[in-house]
Order: sequence, then C-alpha cells, then structure tokens
Amino acid sequence: MDSTHPSHPEFWDQRYQSGQTPWDFGGVPAGLSSYLRHHPRGGRVLIPGCGSGYEIKAFADAGYAVTALDLSPAAVARAHQVAGPALAPNILVGDFFAHDFGAVPFDVIYERTFLCSLLPERREAYRNRVAALLRHRGSLLGYFYYQPPGPAEAGPPFGFAWGAADELFARYFLLVKDLPVADSVPLFAGRERWQERSRTAFALPAAPRTA
Ligand SMILES: C[S@@+](CC[C@H](N)C(=O)[O-])C[C@H]1O[C@@H](n2cnc3c(N)ncnc32)[C@H](O)[C@@H]1O
Repeated sequence: MDSTHPSHPEFWDQRYQSGQTPWDFGGVPAGLSSYLRHHPRGGRVLIPGCGSGYEIKAFADAGYAVTALDLSPAAVARAHQVAGPALAPNILVGDFFAHDFGAVPFDVIYERTFLCSLLPERREAYRNRVAALLRHRGSLLGYFYYQPPGPAEAGPPFGFAWGAADELFARYFLLVKDLPVADSVPLFAGRERWQERSRTAFALPAAPRTA
C-alpha cells in the first residue's frame, strides 16, 4: 500500500502538513453544540479519525470523558494544539480498526467525515467496529455524507447513496434522528445529515475460538 492510499497515515499527514484540508470545519458544528446542550454529562465518548479535533474540548466541557484517535501523527499533533495540554493524554495516534480500547464500552461514538474518508469496502468493518465498541442503547451520532445522484464519485470523500446507510447500520442500530445540516463546509454542502443511531441489543457474532 503506498502513501497515495487513504488507509495510509502519510496520505493524511501530507494533507495536514500542506494545509490541504477542505473537510476541516475550523470549530464546533452547530448540530453537535445543540446535542451537547441537550445531553450534558453523557459518559464516555470516542472520536475516531478526530483530525484537528475541535469537538474534543466541547465534549470535555460538557462533562464527557473523551478518547480521540487518529491514524495521522500530524493530525494528532494539531488536535493536541487545538484541545490544549490537559486533554493531550486523551488524544492518541492509532488505527481505529486495530486499537485496543479496553473492555468498557463507550456511551457515544461521534462521527464527522471519518466514515466518508474510508474506502467503501471498509464500511461494514466500520459498522461492526462501532457496534462492538458501544454499549446497548449507546449512540453513534454526528455527520454522515451522501453522494450526489449519479455514478459513484472518486473519493475521498466517499458518500452514501440514499438508503445505503440505513441498509448498512440497520443490523445493529435504530435511526432515531435525521436532520439536514445548514452549516456544512463547501465540500459537503447540501449532502450532509446530522444523524443519531441507537445501538440495539442485537449481538455481534461470537469471535472464533482459538484452540
Ligand atoms: C477527512 S479527515 C476528518 C477529520 C475530522 N474528523 C474532521 O471532521 O475534521 C479523516 C481523518 O481520518 C483519519 N483516519 C483515516 N483512517 C483512519 C483509521 N483507520 N484510524 C484512525 N483514523 C483514521 C485521517 O488521518 C484523517 O484525519
């Protein structure tokens, strides 16, 4: 796998280092601010693919215990600057799919432009991973990107076709909120939804036994 591949940390390092980050919001989006006003002190939150991580301090200020993670050391360095030294220990370099988060499940997983940065063939692995990391009735929430009608675009970002996200997540989640987004950055304008999905009790398949 070479560094032009979005699964490689250098792909993202190069973009952060050269300032080519058209997905970067530069602050806390309104949908999350509204959620935090209505759900203060909400427990443990995970922010995978946190990038600059403007949301880390917002969650912490609302009373959440935050774990944020990014594959790119340049992104994590930036998130450390943005969130400040007190939160730096909570912001880790790592691979969301491989990192050991421990046995205690999360109450919330926050999504913004991480899922759409993954190759579409990794969506099922993402769905299974968030389902495994959340407690029953925990929430997967945030921003989900839908592609314009027509043939699939070359990404990232890789958007969902209408209906495809529902089909993907229905195995382990109930969609409980779905709202249009008014403050998207130009890259996502008109194609983003604020969504909240609640983890059902449907169990993941048991891991194969090792002899
Ligand atoms: C489009 S950026 C979004 C960053 C941030 N969520 C935001 O809203 O600005 C995608 C981020 O996902 C990170 N990433 C990609 N694959 C990852 C993985 N397997 N584990 C953790 N982070 C990953 C990249 O390094 C990059 O910072």
